[in-house]
Amino acid sequence: TYPRVVLGIETSCDDTGAAVVDEHGKILGEALLSQKDVHLKAGGIIPTVAQQLHRDNIDRVVNEAIICSGISASNLSAVATTVKPGLALSLGVGLIYSLDLVKQYNKPFIPIHHMEAHALTVRLLHPVEFPFLVLLISGGHCLLAVANGISDFLLLGQSIDEAPGNSLDKVSRRLSLIKHPECSCMSGGQAIEHLAQFGDKTFCKQILPLSKYQDCNFSFSGLQNYFNCVIQKMEDVEGIENGAVLSCAADIAASFQHAVAHHIIKRTQRAILFCKQENILPINASLVVSGGVASNGYIRKMLQNLTDCMGMSLLCPPPQLCTDNGIMIAWNGIERLRAGAGILNDTFDIRYEPR
Ligand code: KG4
Ligand code: ZN
Repeated sequence: TYPRVVLGIETSCDDTGAAVVDEHGKILGEALLSQKDVHLKAGGIIPTVAQQLHRDNIDRVVNEAIICSGISASNLSAVATTVKPGLALSLGVGLIYSLDLVKQYNKPFIPIHHMEAHALTVRLLHPVEFPFLVLLISGGHCLLAVANGISDFLLLGQSIDEAPGNSLDKVSRRLSLIKHPECSCMSGGQAIEHLAQFGDKTFCKQILPLSKYQDCNFSFSGLQNYFNCVIQKMEDVEGIENGAVLSCAADIAASFQHAVAHHIIKRTQRAILFCKQENILPINASLVVSGGVASNGYIRKMLQNLTDCMGMSLLCPPPQLCTDNGIMIAWNGIERLRAGAGILNDTFDIRYEPR
């Protein structure tokens, strides 16, 4: 008998992704089309633009993944697609496309929760046992949870306002880093990380959000606001019009990156202490970190120090699996097939759920 294979489709935000993965975790075919360049130029994601780009590209992306895999669509075991959470218009494109496909080939459909997929990606690479602690940090997400099993998560904390990637993107835009020759093709977070290497992280006063709150929630909008004020002040001092790059941009980038990292570490430390106190996690449990911001080397290093101190192991999928992609959706489909959970033969009732 052949191993089971799942086609995964991801369109929840600004990446059109598809992949074919088998039950041993072998990636047979993959295709990904990012809209980031378009949105970077527009200064943010415009949902109708994202929707149109998904519509323009989804057929090509899915076909590429299937052709690469060498598996014909009629031999797929199931189709798995992100149905929540995300941008309504973007989710809709992936769902409508997938429902046509499952009808055409008479395949089961597996609706996927995008966060669950991020959290489980690590198991494609390492045999991580449940329970483990998950930190998801990206442009749209920020949460800490205990993964007790597939689709069994205990949410410990989340951002009460912005996600860290979004804040990094906004401060990067406010610093006009896109005009910096070395950073022109980078995402906001990458540009901040790149420039921060040359800066002094003690340049700005260090503030730690929510330090008086005894929970595991996050907040980034206060930090972002504080750094925007610093930038305004420095622009006034240097007599710079909005749009030019400040001479102290690297110092501000280093200070902001440190503040974001420090806040993430502190909240994660709280979550670990809580789990130890309540015996929620075994002594040598893993901390799994995923999402676009997890590719930041500075943040990773601080997380590594934290897990070393706490006697835990840090597991981080490689950057291309940390950001949105079709592989994680296909793998989540495999996890569900194996568990026999959440597989639909009748898609009459299925809806996407943006929130
Ligand atoms: O996971 P992702 O591709 O998309 C979602 O938000 O779901 O993450 C994108 C985010 C962007 O905000 C980007 O600025 C941030 O991840 N990012 C980084 C780095 N690379 C990407 N943030 C910090 N350091 C990086 N090296
Ligand atoms: Zn994501």
